Amino acid sequence: MAPLTLKKITGPELLHDPSANKGTAFTEKERDALGLRGLLPPRVTTQELQMERVLDNLRKKSSTLEKYIYLVSLQDRNETLFYRVVLENLDEIMPLIYTPTVGWACQEYGHIFRRPRGLFISSRDTGKIASILKNWPNRQARVIVVTDGERILGLGDLAANGMGIPVGKLALYTACAGIHPAQCLPVTLDVGTENEKLLTDPLYLGLRQRRLHGAVYDDLIDEFISAVQQEFPNALIQFEDFANHNAFRFLKKYRNQVCTFNDDIQGTAAVAFAGIYSALRITRKPLKEQKLLFFGAGEAGTGIADLVVAGMVEEGLTEAEARRRCWFIDSSGLVVKSRMDLAEHKVPYAVDRPLINDHLAVIDSFAPTALIGASGQPGIFTETILQRMAKINERPIIFALSNPTSMAECTAEDAYRYTEGRAIFASGSPFAPVTSNGRIFVPGQGNNAYIFPGVGLGVVASQSRRVTDGMFLAAARALAREVSEKDLEMGRIYPPLAKIRQVSTAIAMATAEVAYRQGLASHLPKPAHLHTYIESLMYEPRYENYV
Ligand code: NAI
Repeated sequence: MAPLTLKKITGPELLHDPSANKGTAFTEKERDALGLRGLLPPRVTTQELQMERVLDNLRKKSSTLEKYIYLVSLQDRNETLFYRVVLENLDEIMPLIYTPTVGWACQEYGHIFRRPRGLFISSRDTGKIASILKNWPNRQARVIVVTDGERILGLGDLAANGMGIPVGKLALYTACAGIHPAQCLPVTLDVGTENEKLLTDPLYLGLRQRRLHGAVYDDLIDEFISAVQQEFPNALIQFEDFANHNAFRFLKKYRNQVCTFNDDIQGTAAVAFAGIYSALRITRKPLKEQKLLFFGAGEAGTGIADLVVAGMVEEGLTEAEARRRCWFIDSSGLVVKSRMDLAEHKVPYAVDRPLINDHLAVIDSFAPTALIGASGQPGIFTETILQRMAKINERPIIFALSNPTSMAECTAEDAYRYTEGRAIFASGSPFAPVTSNGRIFVPGQGNNAYIFPGVGLGVVASQSRRVTDGMFLAAARALAREVSEKDLEMGRIYPPLAKIRQVSTAIAMATAEVAYRQGLASHLPKPAHLHTYIESLMYEPRYENYV
């Protein structure tokens, strides 16, 4: 895509504009024409050489947090180079700009702060949100990722420090699906915090107040949503890392009003569902015969189950039959009908059984084919549990999805070791390949970055007015189709990240097709060659010639 705004800036201003700066790659002609002569060292270099320098410096940093800081400052200096480095080294860099390192960066946000990035809206701004959105310099914003910082990854309430999350997610929108950086708007709603450590930290940069609750909080969210409709009427709003009671409420409230989705619920569901589809290509069993035991009945867990149920219904089960194949364990034990403490989203999954707290007893009674961990409880898939799964299944499906890596329900090594290498394993955060009994296993990462960028691109391309579950089902299937037989042979149930642009394009196609089929697309008429049209929208991190 051509630059969205051709900037007429020169000299130091050009060097300090990250979206236009090329650093030492400005050509001789450009240096003369744009008043840069003398402001740069004499030798003109290529973007490839600049990448080499960046990677060399990056690899010398002693901690992942240092690497994060280095990459963010590159993004602040030279956006094109940043995205080229990210895109061509996704395996190495995604864990630095997103989970797990971004979790650490959020915890330290006030301490490592250099420059602001994204838009901060606080509870003091009530009544003025539209005017704050007007301050955002890029009027072309098409994708907004918003958090209120209450449940950052599995790390809890990080409030204003949570800004790392929308910033990181949008960097992935650009790298993975080519959404132009000028179309991305990260937003953090600072409504206070209950985190004592932050409230007493002199370097904390958010409001020093307790969280807003009730009607005042809801009114602020309402005002934000209306202000976005006014200022950026074509924008997709992605809710991110809200606490689970709010996430479910807002999804229900806004999904039929505006173009929005919740990645923790729907994105996670689609990526996990795609993983299950791929795993079933290995076990050669239909979805409708699976029995899934979820650890964690929150946004991630019930979101996945909802999609699994939709998939089972497509295979011929009734909704009730499908739900009976999904059992949940939460912090109080098995989710059963007699419990009076169940939140609304858990009720459809409550089973007519006595309350059991012993996890092994639940496994013995249910005989699951898959364990899906979304509990934020590290190590909850114990040696005994994994051994029991291996006893009752030839190829047990074990997904330890909690983030960051330190929160995973089990490590990749344990999953393979305690199942004699028979587990089909995926995690939320990355694990290195594992060698066990002379075999190499490549753990799949059920990374939401496989799904949300492509869905976003499909929504932007079709200018869909809503985001529907049908789009996520189609996205999950498109993702599973991108897994090759060779990947499956290595136990890998997601495609390599190196293929991410191809994957995102396929998902965008699937999403846009649903938007057109469901009559939600506003980009009309439908392009005759949708694939070519979608590709033409994708940002390529290559330098433009200015003169
Ligand atoms: P949530 O707060 O909505 O849900 C957590 C659930 O875990 C609750 O139902 C809670 O009762 C349950 N839980 C707590 N202690 C437990 C215990 N001892 N045994 C069983 N269950 C227990 O959080 P959400 O959004 O569902 O996220 C959960 C985890 O999933 C987080 O660690 C998050 O990072 C991860 N996640 C992973 C994704 C991925 O891999 N692609 C995407 C989104 C979330």
